[in-house]
Amino acid sequence: MKGIVLAGGTGSRLFPATRAISKQLLPVFDKPMIYYPLTTLMMMGVRDILIISTPHDLPLFQRVLGDGRQWGVSLGFATQDAPRGLADAYRVGRDFVAGEPSALILGDNLFFGHGLVERLRHARAALTGATLFAYRVSDPERYGVLEFDARERAIGIEEKPAQPKSDWAVTGLYLYDGKASEYAASLAPSARGELEITDLNRLYLERGEANVERLGRGFAWLDTGTHDSLHEASAFVKAIQHRQGLVIASPEEVAFSQGFIDAAQLEKLGREIGSSEYGRYLIDLAQSHRA
Ligand code: DAU
Repeated sequence: MKGIVLAGGTGSRLFPATRAISKQLLPVFDKPMIYYPLTTLMMMGVRDILIISTPHDLPLFQRVLGDGRQWGVSLGFATQDAPRGLADAYRVGRDFVAGEPSALILGDNLFFGHGLVERLRHARAALTGATLFAYRVSDPERYGVLEFDARERAIGIEEKPAQPKSDWAVTGLYLYDGKASEYAASLAPSARGELEITDLNRLYLERGEANVERLGRGFAWLDTGTHDSLHEASAFVKAIQHRQGLVIASPEEVAFSQGFIDAAQLEKLGREIGSSEYGRYLIDLAQSHRA
């Protein structure tokens, strides 16, 4: 399965903080935001990943992430020269995806929870058509929202509806079979001039090819679309990390736990990061496994 992290956009809702730097490079507590979606893909076992961003920001992502080899993955980079919408990822990434199944994740989405990895890996293995992950929220009008029939089957999906038909938002992690690029190419821009991911998802839904997986209370899905939600995401990560002494969304640790790199490589990466708490954490982790 191929992976795409979509990390473009103007970040205008976070101005002036994002005037000079991409939103997805801002820290969520102690690490760049993109580490969170990137490690979600890695935890699913996805190792061939395309990062899409603006021509201005892409070199910064390359500087932060490198080519992925240090984490046992392959990272490619592609530009989206204007924010043409989320489904545009399948136009930009068409050659990369090459008709294979893929996972698209938004660069500002953060997933956390016990058993999440198993859920995602299972969804990957069982994928036919599209799989969407739904999460109950108190403000559904900010998201893509699902409609269910009396038997709890998804029958509709709307983007930012004024009158949401449920409290179940569609999260920014989408699994698609090999038809995503072909379906995306058939979409027309919406009234706001974007290729909407909700239109791509509706296409799968109307063909009876979409599965919806609800993520329940045991999971956290956070997005960082506003200063408040960004701050909340940082506070959440800080609270869990301090309480447990474990780091959320470290690509080095995930690479190690997935068997992409060994303890010696992990320790080397920790030493390269230097004297930060994060670097020491990786060194301790490596040494405890080597002991
Ligand atoms: O977070 C989940 C929600 O993401 C879904 O529930 C919605 O259905 C979906 O449309 C999307 O809503 P947002 O309002 O969060 O979309 P936004 O336009 O803010 O874009 C999400 C991220 O993708 C953002 O970090 C910027 C990036 N982006 C956006 C566009 C439009 C791109 O990289 N390229 C783009 O063309």
